[in-house]
Amino acid sequence: MDAIDTFQARYSCRDYLDKPVPRELLERIIDAGRRAPSARKVEPVFYVVVTEAEMRHRIAQMADFGRFIAQVGSCVLVFSHDTKYFLEDGCLAAENILLAATAFGLQSCWVAGHGKPYATSIAEMVGVPGDAKLIAMLAIGYAREPLRQPEHKPVKDVLHWEKF
Ligand SMILES: Cc1cc2nc3c(=O)[nH]c(=O)nc-3n(C[C@H](O)[C@H](O)[C@H](O)COP(=O)(O)O)c2cc1C
Repeated sequence: MDAIDTFQARYSCRDYLDKPVPRELLERIIDAGRRAPSARKVEPVFYVVVTEAEMRHRIAQMADFGRFIAQVGSCVLVFSHDTKYFLEDGCLAAENILLAATAFGLQSCWVAGHGKPYATSIAEMVGVPGDAKLIAMLAIGYAREPLRQPEHKPVKDVLHWEKF
């Protein structure tokens, strides 16, 4: 899938088959994350990929708007060390991952992590050391639902030339 088709195809899926995602595919998806821009090239972002059902169920119970993590084949936890631009760096990496998953024919959904009351507990649960911050929990897997056509605001509503 080319890049523009990928942007157009990505949407947040919340209904998954309980089907594992091959590890090689997950590695290629994470590879896209590590290629994201990073302020001052600090590259503070790292990932914990959770595939085991028990851990996915535990995460799903904690994330009030991420119950489908219990279903989905994999959940990529995006963390960033506590640097000046940790949030920007982490978000860019997360978006690369969502797009790479789409390009490989998988579906995905960002589940909030940063600043959530459960962020520290989830970090501890997967053994992440103290300073690191949870940015996002990315459900990555195979849709159970028929694929949807995402809708967004039209360009004319968001684009301003020269002045607002
Ligand atoms: C920072 C952030 C947090 C989000 N948190 C959740 C969440 O906790 N649960 C969820 O189902 N979707 C979550 N989403 C997905 C958005 O709801 C989704 O991107 C939005 O509705 C637009 O739909 P689309 O992704 O299909 O274009 C989050 C997205 C972002 C960027």
